[in-house]
Amino acid sequence: MSALLDVADLHLAFGGVKAVDGLSFQVHEAEIVSVIGPNGAGKTSAFNCITGFYRATSGAITIAGTDVTRLRPSAVAARGVSRTFQNVRLFGDLPVLDNVRAGTHLWLRQNVFDALLHTPRYRRTEQVATDEAHRWLDFVGLRADRTGPARALPYGEQRRVEIARALARHPKLLLLDEPAAGLNHNEKLELLELIRRIRDLGIAIVLIEHDMGLVMEVSQRVVVLNFGREIADGSPEAVRRDPAVIEAYLGSDDEPAAETGDHEPATATGDGERPTETRDGERVAETGDGEPSGEIDREAGADA
Ligand SMILES: Nc1ncnc2c1ncn2[C@@H]1O[C@H](COP(=O)(O)OP(=O)(O)OP(=O)(O)O)[C@@H](O)[C@H]1O
Ligand SMILES: [Mg+2]
Repeated sequence: MSALLDVADLHLAFGGVKAVDGLSFQVHEAEIVSVIGPNGAGKTSAFNCITGFYRATSGAITIAGTDVTRLRPSAVAARGVSRTFQNVRLFGDLPVLDNVRAGTHLWLRQNVFDALLHTPRYRRTEQVATDEAHRWLDFVGLRADRTGPARALPYGEQRRVEIARALARHPKLLLLDEPAAGLNHNEKLELLELIRRIRDLGIAIVLIEHDMGLVMEVSQRVVVLNFGREIADGSPEAVRRDPAVIEAYLGSDDEPAAETGDHEPATATGDGERPTETRDGERVAETGDGEPSGEIDREAGADA
């Protein structure tokens, strides 16, 4: 079976910094693959290349046989790739429901005249978008009010909304960048179960995560990066015992064999804090592919 995602000898340099230095891996349909590595290893940079937010210096990225290496984020998304961000990105002032409805616009085409004239067809598509948004918010298990502004939600709920929006795009491949960061123990268990249910829908998942308990539990395969280089690609068990992996993590705060690498749970948010400076944030803001540019955008406490 050919791969859903094929990353071949990917390189990305920022001046002298080799953020990604010869990364190759594949993901197949309905597979859960984790990408791990110490801080600064190049994990988010790799996601940004795959999703078109960064232009790779060299190498090739293929989605279901189509070369997407030089495509814009919107074009990559149209080929079935959805993502969430290391720092939650929602339209903070918009109602929760509208944040998720925004995800449907990728496939729910609306005619501008229908919208202006509020034709029956327009009202029908609006209803489809609303129904879809509720469906995905149910799916991710959102408990909070859906009519209030997204910024009013506790942090863990914001993460759920972001996943719901990504799912509302009907992806074949979902990239999750540290979805457990800032979650408490129970929320992490719910996330684990949610990731499996997403996979059971036939959606492949690539997971960047520092929580090794979660990674070891949920992944079929684990790719390990260190200083942009791929140092291992194998089963969770094999990777956990790999001397190169153990070596990479020595001196790092991350612990590859830890059962639950609990990070500090973030407190309930809703304070509308402006983005802290994020490396990926600046570029993300410029792409204009319909993703919010950081209305709610915070370090989740995982990197501290
Ligand atoms: N926009 C940018 N400009 C310059 N350097 C960057 C940029 N984005 C990333 N880098 C550099 O690329 C390297 C990889 O960063 P990246 O954010 O991909 O790491 P990461 O594995 O996601 O780390 P973390 O676990 O801390 O999120 C780092 O040295 C980082 O400083
Ligand atoms: Mg990162």
